[in-house]
Amino acid sequence: MKRVTVSLNDRSYDVVIGSGARHTLAVEIGRCAPFAQRVVIVTQPSVVAAGWLEGIETGLAQSVIEIGEGEDEKSLSTIQSLCSQFVEAGLSRNDLVVAVGGGMVSDVAGFAAASYHRGIRYVTIATTLLAQIDAAIGGKTGVNLPEGKNLVGAFHQPSVVFCDTDCLATLPPKEQACGRGEMAKYAFLSGETPSTALLNETIDDQVARCVAIKAAIVAADEMESDRRMVLNYGHTLAHALEAVGLERRAQGINDRVAELAHGEAVALGVLFAAALAENLGRIDHERVELHKSVIEGFALESSLPSGLSGVVLIERMERDKKAHHDLTFVLDGPRGVEAVTGVDRSVVLTTLLEMGAEQ
Ligand SMILES: NC(=O)c1ccc[n+]([C@@H]2O[C@H](COP(=O)([O-])OP(=O)(O)OC[C@H]3O[C@@H](n4cnc5c(N)ncnc54)[C@H](O)[C@@H]3O)[C@@H](O)[C@H]2O)c1
Repeated sequence: MKRVTVSLNDRSYDVVIGSGARHTLAVEIGRCAPFAQRVVIVTQPSVVAAGWLEGIETGLAQSVIEIGEGEDEKSLSTIQSLCSQFVEAGLSRNDLVVAVGGGMVSDVAGFAAASYHRGIRYVTIATTLLAQIDAAIGGKTGVNLPEGKNLVGAFHQPSVVFCDTDCLATLPPKEQACGRGEMAKYAFLSGETPSTALLNETIDDQVARCVAIKAAIVAADEMESDRRMVLNYGHTLAHALEAVGLERRAQGINDRVAELAHGEAVALGVLFAAALAENLGRIDHERVELHKSVIEGFALESSLPSGLSGVVLIERMERDKKAHHDLTFVLDGPRGVEAVTGVDRSVVLTTLLEMGAEQ
């Protein structure tokens, strides 16, 4: 079993990684919450059906609450319902919430834990690749509003996170691809190792390497004021692609853009960011090719779906809530990956056209 510490002074915690990691839950709870008497496990039907709650023993009085699946269920009404069920279960300030699931469960259960009694402890057993390498680590919790994703939330760090790689065995292929898209991003966030090293490692090592990179970034910038922005590498175009996909689904169009999952969009966004960085003179062509080989090495698509308008994508990128009202990108460069504001619109358009977008 591997351990990575997220160092945040009195809010520091460990991420336990490897096959069977979830079975160390009781021991870890004894360490991080010695006065807890009661545990509420928050999970989803697919996770239960896949068998990942079997053998989850806390040694304390425990009950299970299932929440719905899909982004529509990531809502304030789910938080209200969860908190009411915490009261019914008799959860007190010393007790504990255990999130068992993907990023949706850790975001929702974490936010409920952040709000209930003004904040109680929670731990996460992350069961998707995306949650193991990203969502479950760093303490960003929250829910969606009808007006947009993740608009209400809190920074609330977990007490321990388990990345049990056994759980990945039942993950649908689309969710696997999503995780690999985020993993490809990490290949460029650490200057210490060659970017392709991740490709040839075991899954435990891959997860541990990504967790270590995320832990270091979170430790340097817990509240996402600057450095943590680099975790959005590839996300500016990804969010625009997802916005266009959402609009197409609403119109009943079921093309490739409409079915792009988040991580698949991130992979395309990473490639676009590399091409843009080259066009801005920040990196050379060899570095762009390295990006391409990592994306393809993770069996992800490396060309934009057909029928996308560059102008429309730019409009959506300008609306991105993280764009601060101009074209902001996280880009590779001589100092590594960093946020770059005020990027010239015409260079962005040229890059999109070079990647196959239409005017
Ligand atoms: N807090 C953060 O820092 C952060 C970072 C990235 C993403 N997120 C959030 O994470 C969410 C996406 O997370 P996700 O990609 O893990 O998807 P998800 O949590 O929605 O899970 C996808 C589906 O897989 C099922 N599932 C989970 N584990 C399974 C397993 N082992 N076997 C079979 N099915 C399983 C789930 O029940 C769900 O139906 C989004 O809401 C996103 O906003 C948060």
